[in-house]
Amino acid sequence: EEGEELKRMSASTTLGPQNPNLGSAGAPPDYSEAKIVVAMVGLPARGKSYLSNKLMRYLRWLEYDVRVFNVGQMRRALAKAKLKESGVREDHTATFFDHNNPTAFKLRTQMAEECLEQLIGWLKRGGNVGIHDATNSSISRRKAIAERVAKEPGLKLVFLESVCTDPAVIAANIAVKVSSGDPDYASMSPEAAKADFLNRIKNYEANYETVDADGEEKHLAYCKILDVGRSVVVNGFSGYLESRIAFFLMNLHLTPRNIYLSRHGESQFNVEGKIGGDANLSERGWKYAEALPQLVKDAVGDAPLTVWHSTLKRTGQTSSHLEYPKLAWKSLDELDAGVCDGMTYEEIEKYYPEDAEARDEDKFMYRYRGGESYRDVVVRLEPIIMELERQENILIVAHQAIIRCLYAYLHALAQDDLPYLKIPLHTLICLTPRAYGCDEKRYKAPIEAVDTHRGRVTARDTDVQAPPAPAKEQTIEEAMNAPPPSQRRPGA
Ligand code: F6P
Ligand code: PEP
Repeated sequence: EEGEELKRMSASTTLGPQNPNLGSAGAPPDYSEAKIVVAMVGLPARGKSYLSNKLMRYLRWLEYDVRVFNVGQMRRALAKAKLKESGVREDHTATFFDHNNPTAFKLRTQMAEECLEQLIGWLKRGGNVGIHDATNSSISRRKAIAERVAKEPGLKLVFLESVCTDPAVIAANIAVKVSSGDPDYASMSPEAAKADFLNRIKNYEANYETVDADGEEKHLAYCKILDVGRSVVVNGFSGYLESRIAFFLMNLHLTPRNIYLSRHGESQFNVEGKIGGDANLSERGWKYAEALPQLVKDAVGDAPLTVWHSTLKRTGQTSSHLEYPKLAWKSLDELDAGVCDGMTYEEIEKYYPEDAEARDEDKFMYRYRGGESYRDVVVRLEPIIMELERQENILIVAHQAIIRCLYAYLHALAQDDLPYLKIPLHTLICLTPRAYGCDEKRYKAPIEAVDTHRGRVTARDTDVQAPPAPAKEQTIEEAMNAPPPSQRRPGA
């Protein structure tokens, strides 16, 4: 079974053109048999939602269909009806999370079960990885989850526990909870919210049982993360996707840092409207290279930084005045345009009209003859993404298509919009990872450059720009009805 999954993965990443004359990248991968329930475990303020969302973004990048099912959202969505039924006043304060409050305890158990049912139903309808985002902090709750999942042939279950001992991390998580407009605390002052949330944590601590403390749960597959990045224990994980998940989790850290992205300075090919190649910078491109150290200094200050660039001349030249450690990566080279390398878009339309049309039809999937598609680039960037998770401040100097892909990963944008993102020349983009996405700031150098962006030819909107990470929390119903990741549009 694992062998089959591996075969499918590699087939999906190396698929040759379905119709060689059109250079198509082939059908999307078939992950229909990959079905995993990831059940989070941990006290409140231990970064469970942060980990869930990060894992979701990464697995979606690998083209799995992933959703987070958050019990807190379900609680709020169902609270009115359920609480009314049971004759209890609607309450989301610490009292509701007191294990000595039997009515509330029963309701919480029911809601966690209901959330798991929704998750299982969704997996059966075609989802790949459903993340049960709840505290699941007792042996009995985990036993119930394991028994329920075991009834479904083909579903695997892994627990993912986040243990946090670092008071600074816990304090930061509490601050996010009470200051991010969390619906549980919408009507409270920040001080009251903080006090209540601390009480909620205390209530949980009274009954918290860490996973497999004494060997009683060793039959479960689990991954226990201590202080995100300090140590990771993995037990009973098997199979391709599970190892990918474990490897990703091992590489995460919470150290605040920034990721900087810049295209190379304007190249001679840019000026001539030609794509690909290995041209030198234009005169204005060199001006950008000279201006870049100050632009970077304005953004980075005195913090340490490492520069990654591609192996093409134009990114090396652009980085040449930067006095930081540098690394050249082949996988940051621009999308390979195959037989069209060195042509203008007009020449491609003239000599390969069918290709030009196919690319306009589906720019993400279209693979140049003898070259690559955006999808191929996404696949080859995976090691960069993984390394980026491990590192602190990084500046990546690369190319239009490459920066689009990295930017789309960092902002969790849809595949369909990715090839149309506006990443202008002579602009430094600064992304700061936050709890649920990235903040963004752009620094534009006052040096003219050609515009290499081409909008969609279809009637759809052309100027896609990433919005800040969506702060609005969805209800469980909204989450259930949300479009699959490949259809998510910026701002949606
Ligand atoms: O024009 C600059 C460039 O980096 C080319 O080398 C590359 O083929 C192109 O941009 C990618 O952009 P698009 O996918 O929009 O053609
Ligand atoms: C919640 O209701 O916010 C929650 C996480 O539920 P539980 O602790 O019951 O899993």
